Amino acid sequence: MELKEIVRERYGEAARRVSTGEGLPADCCSTTPCCGGSASASCDPITSNLYDENEAGQIPDQALRASLGCGNPTALATLTPGETVLDLGSGGGIDVLLSARRVGPTGKAYGLDMTDDMLTLAHENQRKAGIENVEFLKGEIENIPLPNNSVDVIISNCVINLSGNKEQVLREAFRVLKPGGRFAVSDVVVRGDVPPEIRRNMELWVGCIAGAMEESEYKRKLADAGFADIDVEPTRIYDLEDARAFLSGQGFDVDALAPQVQGKFMSAFIRATKPAQACCSPACCS
Ligand SMILES: C[S@@+](CC[C@H](N)C(=O)[O-])C[C@H]1O[C@@H](n2cnc3c(N)ncnc32)[C@H](O)[C@@H]1O
Repeated sequence: MELKEIVRERYGEAARRVSTGEGLPADCCSTTPCCGGSASASCDPITSNLYDENEAGQIPDQALRASLGCGNPTALATLTPGETVLDLGSGGGIDVLLSARRVGPTGKAYGLDMTDDMLTLAHENQRKAGIENVEFLKGEIENIPLPNNSVDVIISNCVINLSGNKEQVLREAFRVLKPGGRFAVSDVVVRGDVPPEIRRNMELWVGCIAGAMEESEYKRKLADAGFADIDVEPTRIYDLEDARAFLSGQGFDVDALAPQVQGKFMSAFIRATKPAQACCSPACCS
């Protein structure tokens, strides 16, 4: 089965489970079921406690329960009333709804997702939230269905690591951003080498781990796409016990592998800008 189909199937199942009140499965950027008492979907080391009480109070409970991200890009991004925001891989819509409130009625927040059940859930959450300056689009982040130079800010929350063609995603992000536009994304990032058996594991890919880019590779791919002012800021670095949580149930010798993985995976906030000036010569693009 193609990677994209596996991702679509897995996240479709996650959306259906949230809609029916069953809760998230144990392997969508989430290795442990909900422990309650927190303002987030689970006590998983990656997805838990990403949103504060104030943010949680602005959105329907179902949007919070569908949260499968690894950060809070809306909180870290600068968003100004009147701006247009695009969320790549918007899932149940949590970051789209929070962004829509931040850019206000004169602005607009788009969510883009390829999974029908996620789009259904996102539309339902929009309806419950009563927010109008939102549009959810069906499509793939490798082929964004928006015109060139049409978006002020691109956000995303733990989605780019799922793509098998990250260069294309970054080129598309660059294309749709206006000159001077900002890339403000949460993602899982790797520091250093990771054992190859982890990279090859499809469950870990779908769970946002195996497909994570190495920090310097992420920066290089952003620069190759044309971005400037690139910065990767760790927001959570995963320790030995977190590594055990990622690896358990995947058929690994967890005791042997976890020490090789500890401290190498982190959630990070990745910033970059599309230069405001068009290039005047080949040299100014280098
Ligand atoms: C880990 S979840 C994150 C959802 C949301 N950003 C959040 O924070 O809750 C990944 C989401 O990205 C979507 N997705 C994954 N790969 C995609 C692709 N290539 N194009 C469009 N959507 C994609 C999935 O359908 C899913 O809704």
